[in-house]
Amino acid sequence: MTSESTPESSTPELRELVREVERRRTFAIISHPDAGKTTLTEKLLLFGGAIREAGAVRAQKAARHATSDWLELEKQRGISVSSSVMHFEHHGHRVNILDTPGHKDFSEDTYRTLMAADSAVMLIDAGKGVESQTRKLFEVCRMSGIPIFTFVNKMDRLGRDPLELMSDIEDVLGIAAVPVNWPVGAGSEFRGVYDRQHERLLLFSGGKHGTRLVEQSDLAGPIDSPAIVDAMGSMGGQVREQLELLDVAADPFDMEHVLAGEQTPLFFGSALTNFGVSPFLDRFLEIAPCPGARDSDQGPIEAVRPEFSGFVFKIQANMDPDHRDRVAFLRVCSGRFVKEGTATHTPSGKKVRLSKSSLVQARDRASVEVAYPGDIVALFDPGSFRIGDTLCETGDFNFRGIPSFSPEHFVRVEVAEVLNRKSLGKGLEQLSQEGAVQLFNEPGAGTAVPVLGAVGPLQFDVLTHRMETEYKVGLKLTPLPYVMARWLGPDTDKDIFRFSETKLLEDRDGRSVVLAKSPWYFERIQEKYPDLVLSPTAAHD
Ligand code: G4P
Repeated sequence: MTSESTPESSTPELRELVREVERRRTFAIISHPDAGKTTLTEKLLLFGGAIREAGAVRAQKAARHATSDWLELEKQRGISVSSSVMHFEHHGHRVNILDTPGHKDFSEDTYRTLMAADSAVMLIDAGKGVESQTRKLFEVCRMSGIPIFTFVNKMDRLGRDPLELMSDIEDVLGIAAVPVNWPVGAGSEFRGVYDRQHERLLLFSGGKHGTRLVEQSDLAGPIDSPAIVDAMGSMGGQVREQLELLDVAADPFDMEHVLAGEQTPLFFGSALTNFGVSPFLDRFLEIAPCPGARDSDQGPIEAVRPEFSGFVFKIQANMDPDHRDRVAFLRVCSGRFVKEGTATHTPSGKKVRLSKSSLVQARDRASVEVAYPGDIVALFDPGSFRIGDTLCETGDFNFRGIPSFSPEHFVRVEVAEVLNRKSLGKGLEQLSQEGAVQLFNEPGAGTAVPVLGAVGPLQFDVLTHRMETEYKVGLKLTPLPYVMARWLGPDTDKDIFRFSETKLLEDRDGRSVVLAKSPWYFERIQEKYPDLVLSPTAAHD
């Protein structure tokens, strides 16, 4: 998948495709709320030259209320319901940052977006270590097999000991952390970071949050060279000891292990004060993978396969209230996407014209003429796409589907008026097909009131709003006390769950699902029945 592997006889088009693939970096930033994702994203855009002033992303967040022409609900709540993409050119790389909604707008879309990334940047607050949302997002990245790079943020504040943070990552997430650089002091004593590979000390100049890029001054040389010892001051002894310990005890950096998801390169910095962001961006773009082969039911599909293909990872309804259209977000996986082209929608076998497409850039949708693997394109959806669907120019393969992820919120649903029961069924079926929420039913009891599941509670608000506006059905939702679901293997003896505190249901495809009020229950039952298959996701065929 590199230029060396391109045959001598390759066409100019193929050589161009290889070049475009190799320079692309498509990644998502995962973190717990308040770790600094907005700040880091903004600084990456600033250092990448995409924006001239820091504050633009945050301002956009604030201005969203006034400018958004998206979902009505989004306006009312002043929050982002859907993920968007930011892209910029930097040192010859084309960078695509997939925004993963956090905070209150955390939803199944957040997980699905990770399936469209080639790598992830895990952002950790130095004062807090690995937090719950980071852990969940990490598990999804691990499941999809993408490499993870870690940025430990807020080093300008007194945080936890860096060695302790390393063990936290290793113990909680089960991945080896390999420091690319190492902090010298912290909080008011923060002097900078020492780059282990290039043997240089990057000095922190106490820059302020703002529009100005902080001049990075650095000193080259081994850790015990006089200039570096001098610059580290009273911190020097401890840093030397820690680095010696790392040389002996930490795994050496190994790109193969990083790509296999066994190692995470670790960077320290402070997004707010601009410190360490630029070196992180440069090194990350150098080592992060470009789009590679993606699994399909007919074997791996190489990104440099000349024919266009891609898959839908998100469907957004009513982005434009005047047109009430649906937009399918497609990740280009191979070939060259051209606007005049057509492709086959594999699940239906139908030909689709790509003319009504646009390249997704933050909140705007600019018309796209051509896109390459790793890019995200928004397609007009006449209502025929589902999450995970494949589009391809030639062949009839399906990319490995996007699974359903365990919901963490459940409600029982009823209609306010009996007359609306038919519209309820139709609306729920369509919206669950679209992936807005998950729909569960009592086993064998089609008439019983259904249960809905969501990863984030906002999904229920979106559903209620859409049922009212699109299907004219007022919903009554009653929260249920369950916090997680596990899909059962096909031959499971369901009697195991009969007298328990759990709830046995079936998903839309007739698969058995058990809901529980705490993870503890599943741990206990797994101990009792070690062979029992309890899966946190359900793959779609
Ligand atoms: P999020 O998107 O992950 O939720 O985090 P966000 O960037 O909004 O940052 C959360 C808070 O952490 C903000 O403070 C932000 O300024 C601060 N922060 C981000 N990076 C750093 C850092 O490197 N050092 C320090 N000391 N703070 C950092 P806030 O008070 O909630 O908001 P604001 O008043 O600064 O806008």
